[in-house]
Amino acid sequence: MNKIIEAINEAVGEAQRRAADAASVADLEQIRIDYLGRNGLFPELSRQMGSVPPEERKDTGRAFNAGREAIQKAMDDADKKLNAGKSKEFTGIDVTLPGRAPRTGHRHPISQLADECVAIFSRLGFTAMEGPELEDIYHNFDALNTPADHPSRDMQDTFYLTDGRILRSQTSPVQIRVMESHEPPVRIAAPGRVFRRDTPDATHGMNFHQIEGLYIDRNVSLADLKSVLQYFAREMFGKDVKIRLRPHFFPFTEPSVEYDFSCVVCGGKGCNVCKNSGWIEIAGAGMVDPNVLKNVGYDPEVWSGYAFGLGIERLAMLRNHIPDLRLLYDNDVRFLQQF
Ligand code: PHE
Repeated sequence: MNKIIEAINEAVGEAQRRAADAASVADLEQIRIDYLGRNGLFPELSRQMGSVPPEERKDTGRAFNAGREAIQKAMDDADKKLNAGKSKEFTGIDVTLPGRAPRTGHRHPISQLADECVAIFSRLGFTAMEGPELEDIYHNFDALNTPADHPSRDMQDTFYLTDGRILRSQTSPVQIRVMESHEPPVRIAAPGRVFRRDTPDATHGMNFHQIEGLYIDRNVSLADLKSVLQYFAREMFGKDVKIRLRPHFFPFTEPSVEYDFSCVVCGGKGCNVCKNSGWIEIAGAGMVDPNVLKNVGYDPEVWSGYAFGLGIERLAMLRNHIPDLRLLYDNDVRFLQQF
């Protein structure tokens, strides 16, 4: 055995030991540089090959190739081991981190409040109903005893479609639709979106939401209406809230009232929300006009009833102290996720 073969055998043993101990890819790279790299041992031995006597060249060459392969194999094996360990230790996910809950949405505050209103009225025996947002003039105006020259029928106040239909300006047409399709007695609460050609500002929008209440039975009185509104006010704003009715006019109720709640912000003492009056206007109501009952085929001599409307945005503003109604429709999640 010549010196070159001895050196090869020694190098293979050493390289195998180093490969087995390698703790990183960098360690393996160093092994490659030391033995197989351009300035490493094997190229050096290859240069010395010329000094080997011809009869030993064959064996020396064989040992050289076998040694190089053995070192390469030792490095490949070690590399596989390192990578296998790595994939177990680090997968790119730290399972010990606390979980990130996916963001779930929720219903819009106006929808939540509409549901709450319906729930309060349903405790008094009212059934939830809905009607179309795209209405005809008959249901929105004529059947509600609103004559053709009434200002609310003006193009400036109501959205007209080219086919003669309109976007309903109030939820009151639901009264008509319900009475047309049901025999009395009826007791319904109808939430929904309404549309008016208002210039948007802090307290007006081109579309907003109302809840319509309607109760038709024998011997219904204004006192019944007042007690229902009083019950609603207390359920919504607490037991200290008072209500008051003021005479008003609506074409479809007689007598008609507007009703106020005592200011829920200052308790009636006077503040900027109630403009120092101590009262906040909520909406309109009244005893259903006999003409309306006739329009739906109810006998006004037998049946009577009351109707009322509620502005849901107004309730939301009072309940949550929202200074500008437009905040409800800007779709800013920072605002909406508070509800
Ligand atoms: N529809 C009326 C409005 O939009 C409110 C109202 C409803 C008045 C029911 C009387 C009875 O202002």
